[in-house]
Amino acid sequence: MSQLDKYKRFTVTSALPYANGPLHIGHLAGAYLPADIFVRYLRLLKKDVVYICGSDEHGAAITIKAKKEGTTPQAIIDKYHQQIKQSFEDFGMSFDIYHRTSSAIHHDLSQEFFLNLYEKGEFIEKFSEQYYDEDFNQFLADRYITGTCPVCSNDRAYGDQCENCGTSLNPTDLINPISTLSGKAPVLKPTKHWYLPLDKYQPWLEKWIDEKEGEWKVNVFGQCRSWLKSGLQPRSMTRDLDWGIDVPLEEAKGKKLYVWMDAPIGYISATKQWAIDNNKNWQLYWKKQANEADETCLLHFIGKDNIVFHCIIFPAILKAHGEYVLPQNVPANEFLNLEGDKLSTSRNHAVWLHEYLEEFPGKQDELRYVLTSILPETSDSEFTWKDYQARVNNELVAILGNYVNRVMILMHKYYDGKVNANIKLTDAKINAELGGYYDELGKNLESYRFRQAMQNVMDMARLGNRYLTEQEPWKAIKNDAEAAKNALHNSLAIIGHIATCLQPFLPHTAERIFGMLNVEPFALDQEVEFASGHQLNPAALLFEKVEDEAIEKQIQKLADKKAAAVAAPKQVAVTPAKANVSFDDFVKMDIRTGTILTAEKVAKTKKLLKLTIDTGIDQRTVVSGIAEYYEPEAIIGKQVSILVNLEPREIKGIMSQGMILMAENAEGKLSFVAPVDTMDNGSVVR
Ligand code: 2FM
Ligand code: ZN
Repeated sequence: MSQLDKYKRFTVTSALPYANGPLHIGHLAGAYLPADIFVRYLRLLKKDVVYICGSDEHGAAITIKAKKEGTTPQAIIDKYHQQIKQSFEDFGMSFDIYHRTSSAIHHDLSQEFFLNLYEKGEFIEKFSEQYYDEDFNQFLADRYITGTCPVCSNDRAYGDQCENCGTSLNPTDLINPISTLSGKAPVLKPTKHWYLPLDKYQPWLEKWIDEKEGEWKVNVFGQCRSWLKSGLQPRSMTRDLDWGIDVPLEEAKGKKLYVWMDAPIGYISATKQWAIDNNKNWQLYWKKQANEADETCLLHFIGKDNIVFHCIIFPAILKAHGEYVLPQNVPANEFLNLEGDKLSTSRNHAVWLHEYLEEFPGKQDELRYVLTSILPETSDSEFTWKDYQARVNNELVAILGNYVNRVMILMHKYYDGKVNANIKLTDAKINAELGGYYDELGKNLESYRFRQAMQNVMDMARLGNRYLTEQEPWKAIKNDAEAAKNALHNSLAIIGHIATCLQPFLPHTAERIFGMLNVEPFALDQEVEFASGHQLNPAALLFEKVEDEAIEKQIQKLADKKAAAVAAPKQVAVTPAKANVSFDDFVKMDIRTGTILTAEKVAKTKKLLKLTIDTGIDQRTVVSGIAEYYEPEAIIGKQVSILVNLEPREIKGIMSQGMILMAENAEGKLSFVAPVDTMDNGSVVR
């Protein structure tokens, strides 16, 4: 009995991709292809299954992209939702619904969830100090703050993470935080938020996850255990943002739900929409039933970066609500790399799905095959174009395509494509071997070992090739017509089995084989048989060889993209120009070159240095706000430009006589403005 038989029905989800960019092969290999194969397998077993996906349209991922493209979040999600949906369709992802989290039904359900927890007193309400941009009058999401990483000193770390050293950060950890909106230093302001006390759920989560040992993939189980080991903290379910779902509380005006609260609820709202469209009862697919045996098996397919959200936070939300089933399994994949390097959207180091289809039209199944063969199931794996070529040429063309083609051609050559007797597989040895592959295939799929399962099907084609070579019907036809017919009829049955098992993996190819066989697709529990007199359709090649030229072009394209990404000038926000001043006003400023003679920190301040400057005119004291950029010892002897006729003013008890000119970029980085060549102190700057 299959493990799957315990369940009445299945709800399978694939991570909702952010609608902020096109899809690449890493997406397919992470959360989509494995789930699609699994769902197609369930359908072949005639299980009751709903497969859910959709666009994740909230969160900083969207607003940041909108800012980058100089447009609105709405325009961004509309554009990419369509594009992503199309790519999924093109590659045969067989979702029952591809929904959107911007839909009204989703906003309503997310608010309902929040209120349910709120009314039960599940949230802790806390004030915290959060960075606020005074120019833009708004609190700043983590990604809107950049600064220097306290761990590796990378000066472009984000408020939630340093992408240089990978450390996960809080905005207040950053040194010299800068708002990416105004380019200025943000201020801390108190703000109220609603926290889910994950610490309260820790004992329950530990028990629940412990029960999954041996059942869940080791990579997933291990990550959960290490999160639990480091101790869970309350996590805020609300944010100060202007894009997202409104927090449904009067006192929370202007606040939005945390995107990781609303996104997984997107699975449920999508199911609701599907149920409306198809006259189904969505609650059967999500809610606990009076009788446990009637409950749905909920499975989340995701990439490894989403493990904590699906194994800890979302289950805690579902548990807090109380009416919902919990995931039975979360078969997360690791990451796919490309040609020895991480896939990267920002560096354009990716094979984009829409571009692939432009260059390899109709070759969806070739990509599905290669990706399935290298899925990062237990560790990161790598896509290379040479490997793509080798797998298509040596496996799809030479083994599968060749086998089907040889049999079809011979059937047409000897019998005009007509079946001469009722066919079932009569060769007992072959039957037993095929049966073995069926069993293996089932076991592998049910344990989320898709790579192996794909090879089980290829082994069936290997078996077919071997059988044909052994039987040599092209020789037998001359002296033992019955043997030749028998061999080819058996071969036709083998092809029927291959096509049946191929359906979850290469649906387009399976369809084409069934087309050639001129039969309706077989289900898994169905006899593979052909009636006497059955007419086959003409033979057609299933796959074409990939030429070296096509591969070299792709490799070159990646190299060009890399070079372009390096050469592309960095886009920076530039402060708008000020109003004109007259020349007379300008010449009132007396700017001279000078040299720093001494430098020391001003006590009890973070930013100030006390400098002695030789201005050529005199030696004077200047207080300058550069301490966070320059160590005092490092700047002694440096030439600078100094405004010598600025009214003296007292700063922290020190009389400052003049101002050092500094250049400041959008991120707040400072640099001295100094003559390129060494000049006499006192030289006039004009
Ligand atoms: O990492 C991501 O791309 C997220 N948009 C995944 C969300 S999965 C789910 F919770 F919706
Ligand atoms: Zn760092």
